[in-house]
Amino acid sequence: MSQRLLHTPEGVRDVSGSELERKRSLEDTLRKSIKACGYQEVQTPTFEYFDVFSGEIGNTHSSELYKFFDKEGNTLVLRPDFTPSLARYASQRFAGEEKALRLCYQGNTFTNMGSLQGKLKETTQIGAECYGDGSVESEAEMITMLISALKTAGLTDFQISIGHVGYFKGICEKANFNQDTENLIKEAILDKNIFLVENTIDDLQTDEGLSTALKAMTELYGDVSVLEKADGLVTNAVSKNAIAHLQSLYHMLCEKQVENYVSFDLGILSKYNYYTGIVFQAFADGVGDSIAKGGRYDNLLKSFGNPKPAIGFAIMVDDVLTALTNPQTEDKYITFALGKGRLADKTLALLKEIGITCEEMEDKSTRKLIFVNEELKLKFFLAKGPDVPTYVEYGAADIGVVGKDTILEENRNVFEVLDLGFGKCRMCVCGPESARELLNRHERIRVASKYPKIAKEYFFDERHQTVDIIKLNGSVELGPIVELSDVIVDIVETGSTLKENGLVVLEEVCPLSARMIVNQVSMRMNYKRITDIIYKLKEKL
Ligand code: PRP
Repeated sequence: MSQRLLHTPEGVRDVSGSELERKRSLEDTLRKSIKACGYQEVQTPTFEYFDVFSGEIGNTHSSELYKFFDKEGNTLVLRPDFTPSLARYASQRFAGEEKALRLCYQGNTFTNMGSLQGKLKETTQIGAECYGDGSVESEAEMITMLISALKTAGLTDFQISIGHVGYFKGICEKANFNQDTENLIKEAILDKNIFLVENTIDDLQTDEGLSTALKAMTELYGDVSVLEKADGLVTNAVSKNAIAHLQSLYHMLCEKQVENYVSFDLGILSKYNYYTGIVFQAFADGVGDSIAKGGRYDNLLKSFGNPKPAIGFAIMVDDVLTALTNPQTEDKYITFALGKGRLADKTLALLKEIGITCEEMEDKSTRKLIFVNEELKLKFFLAKGPDVPTYVEYGAADIGVVGKDTILEENRNVFEVLDLGFGKCRMCVCGPESARELLNRHERIRVASKYPKIAKEYFFDERHQTVDIIKLNGSVELGPIVELSDVIVDIVETGSTLKENGLVVLEEVCPLSARMIVNQVSMRMNYKRITDIIYKLKEKL
């Protein structure tokens, strides 16, 4: 019998039956709710010229765009989101128009992400954009409209986190950072990576006030009181204006009686220089990522020749469907995923010091996989190191403890909130002494590693050297000994494995230690309980 290809490619799927009915009904509800606010529907094409989504205009990396060519040789792109398409449409429509333009849309978007991520490459979005109105009122209108659409769809437990890119911009301008430095700090803040922010800033020897404000940015989230705290940390006008802006926005949201759905996070920044004012994301339990996002992007229409202020949001329909099926319980557990072995033992000992215990785990003969402390409403499980960031990214665990090596290699979208200080070791390039010269000659080199991503980034991006990388799963030191590779990239703790096998450290890649990571939705939905744990641990360390 011939084998027929009956399945779809990874990341795209057939939807039918009751699932499709639920999806259609959700789409109708969301779309009607937005249209009822005076937004006119537009349908833009599924693919457009590459230029519409590239460079400063887009907020998707070029490697994640589905690209193809037409017969004339133009590069075309399947839309990764709607905002640039709508902006292109609006700037044609705007010629000579002075009134604000309110548009909404619904359709599928396409992102060419890596495989085996458990994520859809084709997703449905519904959203709205308002052009030609730069007022705070238009922002309050957008956020209220988003809240009411989500509520009408049946979602009860969700949070809109609001930030303002001006706060960070103002500090960077004052500190005179160049673009590279600004990007480096921005990424660390985005990951809520407190010590990376601290280290980077300490190296720069910035003015004390500015460095205190930047360091605080990973922690400036929570209810409206963070705005006052943030204001007290800055003196520059741009940052102060950003806070004043958020305060008046909050005032308006209170008047519209939606303040219970709103919190603030000054660490919400975009990797791309796309947003120019407020930025916001919606979070709901049961979905590991934001279910809606938006913000002000006043520079986008300029790139289509018609400068106008603009603000908008997009709702991820598939994620809202997931959130709606998640049982919304009162009794919420905080779940910890711990890397098996020594790391877990040390973590449990540390947690014990702050009064977090789990009796069930002390029984070493048990075959149980999940351990519960009913009184504290905590759950724990042990997992293979590389799986810990995965559990946390998807929200299967709220908090994880794992080595920095694993975090770098897995590159998951998680907040890295604490350096626990134990499990200290180094990632190094090692080999026989004779390989040192080879490294410097930039000849063809074979590198064996359990950490191919770290090895590649080190050699390609830092040493600007193209090498052949061979992935191994353990006892990597064998590589040079049996002549599989010239060198290895591996963890060195005491150095005794190297010594006993006649190898040496040739170069250090980076220092490592155990880190605490947190799911980005848990951090918003449960911030009181989670930050309480983080602060208590910080005091102990
Ligand atoms: C790690 C690492 C080195 C060794 C370094 O291996 O990959 O081989 O420890 O420790 P040392 O500097 O104190 O000698 P691990 O024991 O985790 O096993 P693996 O080789 O299977 O990865």
